[in-house]
Amino acid sequence: MRNNIERVYFTEEMIQTRVKELGTQLSEDYRGKEPLLLGVLKGSFIFLADLSRHMDMLCDIEFITASSYGAGTETSGEVKITKALDSVVEGRHVIIVEDILDTGLTLEFLKKYLSSLNPASLKICTFLDKPSRRKVPLRADYVGFECVDAFYVGYGLDYAGHYRNLPFIGSLKPDIYA
Ligand code: PRP
Repeated sequence: MRNNIERVYFTEEMIQTRVKELGTQLSEDYRGKEPLLLGVLKGSFIFLADLSRHMDMLCDIEFITASSYGAGTETSGEVKITKALDSVVEGRHVIIVEDILDTGLTLEFLKKYLSSLNPASLKICTFLDKPSRRKVPLRADYVGFECVDAFYVGYGLDYAGHYRNLPFIGSLKPDIYA
């Protein structure tokens, strides 16, 4: 699997250091609020697992599945919820946890949907933020790293379902897409 990586952008050490910082910051900002961490599957599962273990507080963990990329590297632009919420959002302090904010279409859709459920507050925490690709004016409240426009795999991010389990974030060799 690692033979297919062209370049490493964020090493395991860089990722773990930054996730710890974000967890500490969230613990301070949400002290006494018992937030609901809402991971957007599938990409967020590793980030959420690491982040939540750096939050020294009571919190609930929930998942929603939204997908717009299918098997390719370009978004279809059409966001679908394929696993609904099991938890009550009304009155909760909700933190949406994402692996990457790219065009912003997924999070714009989810933000509107979740806002309609009347949370006490709603914030976005994304590990990667790719502002150069944004199609809608959306900003995350917590960002791990800003990144340049490349197609990333690892730390939850996939290509055609693979590479999510890499502990670092990198790009694939061009012949892998061929
Ligand atoms: C990825 C990622 C975000 C979304 C970001 O999900 O996890 O949810 O794309 O892109 P956007 O800002 O352009 O909308 P994907 O649809 O690939 O599903 P996955 O999490 O199952 O890999």
